[in-house]
Amino acid sequence: MTKYIVEGGRPLFGEIHIGGAKNAAVAIIPAALMVSGPCRIENVPQISDVTLLLGILQDLGAKVRYVNPHAVEVDCTSLRNGRVPYESARRCRASYYMLGALLGRFGAADVALPGGCDFGGTRPIDQHLKGFRALGVQVDTQSGFVMAEAAGGRLRGASIFLDKSSVGATINIMLAATLAEGMTVIENAAKEPHVVDLANFLNSMGANIMGAGTDVIKIRGVEGLRGGTYSIIPDQIEAGTYMAAVAACGGEVKLCSLIPKHMDCMTAKLSEMGVEIQEMDDSLLVSRIGPLVRANIKTMPYPGFPTDMQPQIAAALCLARGTSVITDSVWNSRFRYTDEFKRMGAQIQVNGNLAIIEGVERLTGAQLEACDLRAGAAMLIAALAAQGISEITNVQYIERGYEDVIGKIRGVGGSIRAVEAPEEELAVSTAG
Ligand code: EPU
Repeated sequence: MTKYIVEGGRPLFGEIHIGGAKNAAVAIIPAALMVSGPCRIENVPQISDVTLLLGILQDLGAKVRYVNPHAVEVDCTSLRNGRVPYESARRCRASYYMLGALLGRFGAADVALPGGCDFGGTRPIDQHLKGFRALGVQVDTQSGFVMAEAAGGRLRGASIFLDKSSVGATINIMLAATLAEGMTVIENAAKEPHVVDLANFLNSMGANIMGAGTDVIKIRGVEGLRGGTYSIIPDQIEAGTYMAAVAACGGEVKLCSLIPKHMDCMTAKLSEMGVEIQEMDDSLLVSRIGPLVRANIKTMPYPGFPTDMQPQIAAALCLARGTSVITDSVWNSRFRYTDEFKRMGAQIQVNGNLAIIEGVERLTGAQLEACDLRAGAAMLIAALAAQGISEITNVQYIERGYEDVIGKIRGVGGSIRAVEAPEEELAVSTAG
């Protein structure tokens, strides 16, 4: 078991290269299983969720070959339709995209219900299943598996109005509808950049998808997809995480290879908090010299403030002057990380989906346990900004979504190292 040792209290200076978007990669890799012929995916982040999904493709008979550390060639020509077992599905929520993709390719799918980050509340998939059913699929959930089969072996286009603009449901329905017969219309669709990236990937392989990035997506089913090359967009949340780190620690960091437009809501909020941000073609120069100022945050679907940035910005707000209020309107209970912050001296009160933060002068290093991916990233930011040494355990959550986090933080002067700790020691050090 790995843990991170972080010595905090140093400002960050230098450059960080932003990698490919995790949440686009985890949709595009399953989508590749619908493509006949070799398909090359570039700007693939080296994170454990990607390794896991590529492993599922291989188990189903795909040929997977890394061309370089960030480009992978996937050939699903001789894929067979198999079961996606619980051992794989429980470790990555996005494994449920195998449902939409297998339904598209074979008209049937048998996939264990997903795991992934547990925020402490429920993560329903009723909208995904409603979409599949509208496309003519018979869906049964039994013994932890979703078993789905289209009457006659092929899905039929339909109109679907989502009760919530769910990213996962939009992606899963888009996948299933790509090779369906006729036109599918998704209304109240999610507009996140990774939804658009998936549509662009599928279109570049021969799909006919219009309107991605708006709340109405139209998918005209095609007979098949052909191979090609596609490069994944930069990770909006990875970039935002390092922006929040500079806000919390101070210093000046250039974040390279990103899409500034995707960062607008973070740029606006951090500017309000006293962070200076200069925008260039594909980079942002982020600096914080003066004090941090309080702000209110309300998470919303894109283009609003992303829920996946809420814990990281909270780490910075713990050190801002005044009282900040965070409302998470996407997830009900995504504040489990605040208990760890409190042990560092943060003043936070949580009530349902609301957190009230009274800024303090300093945080102090502590033993911290990551409880999900973004919570882990937020603890890393708090540890980097705190006085003294922190130990972070359960870092496998962080490594699900952040490539080379240690190298990137060290590259800008942060003090962090990974150590292997025996499990008994971890159990003792994280008790209570
Ligand atoms: N919802 C339903 N029914 C559904 C699906 C969703 O009620 O069938 C509700 C959820 O309970 C939630 C809201 O709709 O309140 C939004 O959920 P959504 O489906 O959009 O979330 P998701 O697809 O499960 C993706 C990201 C999450 C991110 C959310 C919101 C991936 C793999 N995951 O999850 O990312 O928090 O969208 O933007 O794309 C992360 O990267 O750390 C992460 C958790």
